Amino acid sequence: MRRNSLVVRLLAVAALSASVAACRQDMHDTPRYEPLEATTFFANGAASRQLVANTVARGQLNEDRHLFEGVVDGKPADTFPMPVTAAVMARGQERFDVFCSPCHGRTGVGNGMIVQRGFRQPPSFHDARLRNAPVGYYFDVITHGFGAMQDYSTQVPVADRWAIAAYIRALQASRAATVDDVPADRRADLARPAGERREQEAR
Ligand code: HEC
Repeated sequence: MRRNSLVVRLLAVAALSASVAACRQDMHDTPRYEPLEATTFFANGAASRQLVANTVARGQLNEDRHLFEGVVDGKPADTFPMPVTAAVMARGQERFDVFCSPCHGRTGVGNGMIVQRGFRQPPSFHDARLRNAPVGYYFDVITHGFGAMQDYSTQVPVADRWAIAAYIRALQASRAATVDDVPADRRADLARPAGERREQEAR
């Protein structure tokens, strides 16, 4: 009788420790498939299922070609896909100075610091060819790069690419502008140093 109960107790302890060990094993090697892991469960041997055809992740339906590719009727767009406001221009200026001016220079002539240190000199944005290029072309160059220039599609989101294109238009216009292009109530500002003007605008 005593002997039997000892055996029962020993078995119970053995069973318990076995289950604890199994549990630990599970924690080390979770029973799930890693991405791209093989399986015998599905006929094609892949644990990850194919997406249903034409599935689009939420927020990724980029079907507006004007906005997402800078293309209208199969050609580089001549128009912006959004209203060009003062806020868009300010954003464009700031992003241009961050991402483009290191090579293209603050004014777009192509004399940025990286160029001064030996990188290939880009053409000036004030050359007739680029002045006449449609805005969609700028969007495309930022999105896909051009020759020696890498693309900026990962660093610069779509809306910012358009804002930068708008600001480049302003840089180009500034070269050919006359006093008549400046609104009458802002002409007095032209006489003041640029630093002072920027300070006032920042306020
Ligand atoms: C690291 C330097 C560098 C940076 C940063 C850079 N570019 Fe360029 N870019 C170049 C060079 C170099 C070329 C000329 C490439 C060639 O002809 O092979 C060029 C060419 C261009 C052209 C002219 C394409 C043509 O038709 O000749 C445009 C437009 C342009 N860049 C826009 C931009 C914009 C907008 C940005 C910022 C988002 C930017 N680049 C950032 C180096 C740069």
